[in-house]
Order: sequence, then C-alpha cells, then structure tokens
Amino acid sequence: MTHQTPADDREWSLDELAEAYAYPATAPGQGRTPGAWLRANMVSSLDGAAQHDGRSQPLSGDADMRIFGTLRGLADAVVVGAETVRLEGYRPARAREAFAARRKAAGQTPAPAIAVVSASLHLDFSLPLFTEPLTPTLILTGAAAPADRVRAAERAGARVVIAGDGRGVDPAAAVSALAGLGLTRLLTEGGPRLLGQFVASGTLDELCLTLSPTMTAGDSQRIAGGPGALVPERFALASLLEEAGFLFARYDRI
Ligand SMILES: NC(=O)c1ccc[n+]([C@@H]2O[C@H](COP(=O)([O-])OP(=O)(O)OC[C@H]3O[C@@H](n4cnc5c(N)ncnc54)[C@H](OP(=O)(O)O)[C@@H]3O)[C@@H](O)[C@H]2O)c1
Repeated sequence: MTHQTPADDREWSLDELAEAYAYPATAPGQGRTPGAWLRANMVSSLDGAAQHDGRSQPLSGDADMRIFGTLRGLADAVVVGAETVRLEGYRPARAREAFAARRKAAGQTPAPAIAVVSASLHLDFSLPLFTEPLTPTLILTGAAAPADRVRAAERAGARVVIAGDGRGVDPAAAVSALAGLGLTRLLTEGGPRLLGQFVASGTLDELCLTLSPTMTAGDSQRIAGGPGALVPERFALASLLEEAGFLFARYDRI
C-alpha cells in the first residue's frame, strides 16, 4: 500500500487531461476486440449509486464534467444505451475548440458520433440528437428490429447499424461493427444495463470511474447491472486524480 501526498495540487488544463487520458498509442490493436479500444466512463456515489432521481447529474460536479468532456473529446464514438438517451435527454456531441487540433491530427470528425444501442428503437427521431448532429448519429440494433422504426431513424438522418441476429445487440458484435466503420476509439457512457453487458461479454478494455463524495442510500442501480460475469473481470489501476473530494480513477483490464 502507498500513501501519496499531492505533489501537483492544481487544476489541470484540458490539454493536460487529454494527454493523461489519451487512448493507447497502438490502438487499434490492443483492445479485447481486434481493432478497437472500449473505455467506459461512469460516476458512482460512495455507496455505489449510479443515479439519483433517475439521473447521474446529482452525483457529478465541475471536475467530473471536465473529465466527461475530455473523454468525449478523445473518442470516435460514444456508445450509449437508449434508456440513458431517453432519461438524460441526450443531445449531439459538441465540437470543442480545446480538442479541435488534436482531433484533426488524429483524423477524427470535429465531434464524436453518438451511437445509441436500442432493440425497440422507441426514440424520438425529431430530436436534435438525430436531426442536427455534427457527425451522424448511429443506431446499433438487431437484425429483427422493427422495420418501421428503422425507416423512421434513417429518414431522420441516423445511420442504422445491425449488430445482432435477433432483436437485440450482441455487445461484442457492436464493438466490431463500429471498428469496421473506422470508429476504433470507443467510449461508452453506460447506462448500467448496457455496461453490464460489455463487462459480462469481456469486451470492456478500460473503466474511467468517478467516485463522487456523495451518498444516496435508496435502491439505485450500480454502474453495471444485468447478468453477471462468470468470474470477476480484473483491472489494474492506471491513474488516480483528485479534485474537490472527487476521485478520478482509470483502470485497464488485465
Ligand atoms: N452513473 C453514471 O455514470 C451513469 C451513466 C449513464 C446512465 N446512468 C443512469 O442510468 C440510468 C439508465 O440506465 P439503464 O441501465 O436503465 O439503461 P441503459 O443501459 O442506458 O439503456 C437500456 C436500454 O438500452 C437498450 N439496450 C441495452 N442493451 C441492449 C442490447 N443488448 N440490445 C439492444 N438494445 C439494448 C434497450 O433499449 P430499448 O428499450 O430502446 O430497446 C434498453 O432498454 C439512468 O438513470 C441514467 O441516469 C448513470
């Protein structure tokens, strides 16, 4: 065990955060899925809640939002479950000046694509997420997705990507399908039901976990749910930052 006193006790710039959270230099190639690297970013209360009143915002804070923005600024695509999109009112990702040069040099679009995972496609396709993104929004679904909803998604401008034989998405196939589109630096923002599937299928490469200095009690979901992994997935701590009592841990799967 080690105890470290802060040697660098100041607010990091977005550029420094982007350096610290850069995707592995050799990705694609190093992740569990050939050609892709899947990282998750989640916030948890001290007592393990992933939401309060149906949203994660009450657990978050300024520093957490900076990390959230940095991770988006580095990603090709943000993979997110449809319930999080519905409950959190997802909008298209923004192009941010702070990451513009880095994205251009990496051959990325000005903002990451949002990739919504859904079986039902019960999504409001009139929302800006589908009609006004800088980078077209993707819908990941199964081959048996309702045809009328697929048409509605495509009419709105979304790109529908099939990643499963039935109604649902196979998490590993989703990662491979995105990699096949050239989207290799992947970020999932959950929610817990989606993240649980990436964990249980062994496709998650990295977890960026914000431990929020809050407690909620109650019966909130944890950051990952659904059927468990056969054996616990093991991770190694890659870095740990602190601000205002929030801990920002980054773990790589061993
Ligand atoms: N703490 C955090 O960092 C954090 C992050 C994100 C979200 N959250 C919170 O988590 C809650 C929502 O998360 P959640 O776990 O309930 O839902 P979720 O994982 O965001 O979304 C679940 C939905 O995603 C679709 N889906 C998931 N797996 C699928 C698969 N294999 N194939 C096809 N579709 C699939 C389904 O959509 P359809 O119903 O459309 O078929 C399903 O209903 C919210 O309260 C949110 O605030 C917290």
